[in-house]
Amino acid sequence: MSGKQVVILLGSVLILGCLQVAAPTETDNKTNDFVATDEWQTIAEGQAIPRGLHVRINLQTGLKEAKLLDESERGTSLQSQPDDQNAREAHDDNEPLALDYKPDIIEESIRRVKEQKKSYAELRKAYKEFQKNFRTDGELIVQLIDQFRNFSRTPLESEMRSKLDCLENLEYLLHQIDNALMFIDNGGLDDVLLPIVVNDTSTSLRVSAMRVLGSLASNNPKAQIKVFEKNFGSHLAQILTSSGNVGEISAALHAFGALLRKFPLAQQRVLSTSGTQALIKVLQSPDVELRSKAKVVTLISDLVLEKRSVLDVSKDDPEASSTMAQYVLLDFESWLKTPGYCAAVDTVLTKEFLLLLEQPEVVEQFATALETTEDMCTSTWSQSSGLRHALLTVRNRYANSTDEYRLEVSQILAKLCERLFNKPKHTEL
Ligand SMILES: *[C@@H]1O[C@H](CO)[C@@H](O)[C@H](O)[C@H]1NC(C)=O
Ligand SMILES: *[C@@H]1O[C@H](CO)[C@@H](O)[C@H](O)[C@H]1NC(C)=O
Ligand SMILES: *[C@@H]1O[C@H](CO)[C@@H](O)[C@H](O)[C@H]1NC(C)=O
Ligand SMILES: *[C@@H]1O[C@H](CO)[C@@H](O)[C@H](O)[C@H]1NC(C)=O
Repeated sequence: MSGKQVVILLGSVLILGCLQVAAPTETDNKTNDFVATDEWQTIAEGQAIPRGLHVRINLQTGLKEAKLLDESERGTSLQSQPDDQNAREAHDDNEPLALDYKPDIIEESIRRVKEQKKSYAELRKAYKEFQKNFRTDGELIVQLIDQFRNFSRTPLESEMRSKLDCLENLEYLLHQIDNALMFIDNGGLDDVLLPIVVNDTSTSLRVSAMRVLGSLASNNPKAQIKVFEKNFGSHLAQILTSSGNVGEISAALHAFGALLRKFPLAQQRVLSTSGTQALIKVLQSPDVELRSKAKVVTLISDLVLEKRSVLDVSKDDPEASSTMAQYVLLDFESWLKTPGYCAAVDTVLTKEFLLLLEQPEVVEQFATALETTEDMCTSTWSQSSGLRHALLTVRNRYANSTDEYRLEVSQILAKLCERLFNKPKHTEL
């Protein structure tokens, strides 16, 4: 095996030296002869090659290649060994390329390089894909904002469809946190959403814009801050106060909730002023359907519970003192009681309970809210014969149902009624 070298350089396997091959005989098909040139050429399986060539395995294809030695390689350590007549004769059979020489080293190096190549290629592909998508989304968002800047200042019926399409695309795109922030950084709040939410006369445009707002602020603290800074809280409260449209109230509540959830500063600023009044106004409005009213009490209940659980979880954790301090400032009791929350809920249920009989999900939403805010309203609710009648009627109706969900709701109501109406009266003590 002397006279052969295996050189592994930079991930390439180079085999230099006298490769012992059979001299082509006359019977050989001449086309099987390897004619070496200065360029790398693939050596076919089992193909005989003349000795003294520069041979390598192409790591991209896994095939053997050979070419003539470069001038610069001659006389260097990489040069093939001088032909050794004995060695040549000893290996004169149709020995394949000398790759069985230390096959473990070669295989190992090929395996490693292939592994690296694969993972690198995959990384690269994933990165390109990521870059492509990201750029596509980003470009799309910038383009949609530009399109809005291009619309005429006076509302045109002919532009309505395009505007709605733009907003629909944005609602879809801005669920993603990065997309939402890109929209905000490119002036989308000022140039697209604010003018519509504040000034547009078209209800469907306002509804779409508020859906976009809800989409971009949901679970996105950075976006919530920007939305809050642009004073959307009071604009939404304004819409809740003045609208009688089911779709609009629903979209406004969704955006309102997305802005406020897990954001105690916004809760404090928005709900201590016009916010709770707007919510209670929705409860009091005879034009608003029960389903939207259920959404209002659910949002209120969620925020009260959020405060309760934060204070509960962090009361033994000194690290959480600043978070706690923010939540302690949330005085839901006075914010809700002053504008008449307890009475408003009482009235809704007393007057509309017949509608509840067919809507167990709505009953459950109200029952949950009643439970959450029970402490602040007990004095009002426990004295209300209308509320008592409403809750007991629904409970009784559901108690005889064969539907498991209704049975469950009926049990929730039963417990609630027990607490609200069966407390021993002070006069009886
Ligand atoms: C040589 O090989 C070619 C193609 O591989 C084939 O067509 C031809 O018949 C062969 N000639 C001889 C003499 O074997
Ligand atoms: C906005 O208007 C300009 C000038 O009319 C135009 O060049 C551009 O393509 C428009 N952009 C979009 C997004 O429609
Ligand atoms: C709404 O319209 C008023 C009066 O035209 C204008 O002063 C205000 O800047 C507009 N607000 C937005 C956000 O476009
Ligand atoms: C429910 O069923 C019970 C007995 O099965 C019956 O006494 C009661 O009147 C029923 N209540 C209603 C509201 O149908």
